[in-house]
Amino acid sequence: MATKAIDPSDRYTKVAVILHWLIAILIIGQLAGGIYMHNLPATTWKFEIYQWHKSFGIMVLLLSLARLGWRLTHKTPALPDGMKGWEKLAARFTHIAFYFLIIAVPLAGWLMVSASPYDLPTVLFKLVPWPHLPGIPQDAALEGIFKELHEIMAFAIIGLLVLHVGAALKHHFINRDGVLTRMIPILSKRG
Ligand code: HEM
Ligand code: HEM
Repeated sequence: MATKAIDPSDRYTKVAVILHWLIAILIIGQLAGGIYMHNLPATTWKFEIYQWHKSFGIMVLLLSLARLGWRLTHKTPALPDGMKGWEKLAARFTHIAFYFLIIAVPLAGWLMVSASPYDLPTVLFKLVPWPHLPGIPQDAALEGIFKELHEIMAFAIIGLLVLHVGAALKHHFINRDGVLTRMIPILSKRG
C-alpha cells in the first residue's frame, strides 16, 4: 500500500543529516561499549574503556545540544500526507523522546561520575581534562540514582531505536515514499 510520496525539495539540510548520522553512530557505539564494559573486572583496561566511554559520551552531549539548537531554529520537512493520524503522532513522539534522551543519557552519565565518592577524573581522549558538574555532592546514594537513570534511559533508547528503524524500513520498502532517502540522500542519487 503506497503512501503519497513526499515533495523531494522538502528536505533536511546537510547539517541536520550529518548530525543525525554522527550522533546515531556514536550512540550505537556507546550502547554496545556500555554493555560490554559493565561486567569487566576492575583492571586498568576497564578504567581505560570507561575513559573512552566518557569521552565519546560527552561528544554526544555537545553534538546533541548543537542539534537541538538547529532543530529549534529550522523548519523540518513535512511527513507524508498519506500517513495515518496515529502514525504521525507516533513519529512526533519518537523524535521528541529521542531529543530528550540523547541529552539526558549523557547528562545522567556526567552527573553519575560527578557524584561518585571515588572522585575519578575524566580526561577526554587522553588530552582534555573534563570537570565534574559543579554543585553536585559526592554521595554514593546520589551516584546510585544517576547510575540507575543512566541505565534505564540508555535502554529506552534501544527500545525507541527498534521502533524508529522499523518505521524507516516500512517507509522505504512498503510505503516507498522517500522518507528514508531524505535522511540518506545518497540513496536518491542512485535513483
Ligand atoms: C549517549 C551517550 C551514552 C550512552 C548511550 C551510554 C550508555 C551506557 C550503557 C548502556 C551503560 C551500561 C549500563 C550500566 O552499566 O549501568 C553505561 C555505563 C556507564 N556510563 Fe554511559 N552512556 C553514555 C554517556 C556517558 C557519559 C557522558 C558518561 C560520563 C561522563 C557515562 C558514564 C558511564 C559510566 C561511569 C558507566 C558505568 C556504570 C557502572 O559502573 O555500572 N556515560 N553507559
Ligand atoms: C540512536 C540512533 C538514532 C537517533 C537518536 C535518531 C534520531 C532521530 C530524530 C530525532 C529524528 C527527527 C529529525 C528531526 O526532527 O531533527 C530522526 C529522523 C530520521 N531518522 Fe533517525 N535516529 C537514529 C538512528 C536512525 C537509523 C539507524 C535510521 C535508519 C535505519 C534512521 C532513520 C531516520 C529517518 C529516515 C529519519 C527522517 C524521518 C522524517 O523525515 O520524518 N535513524 N532520527
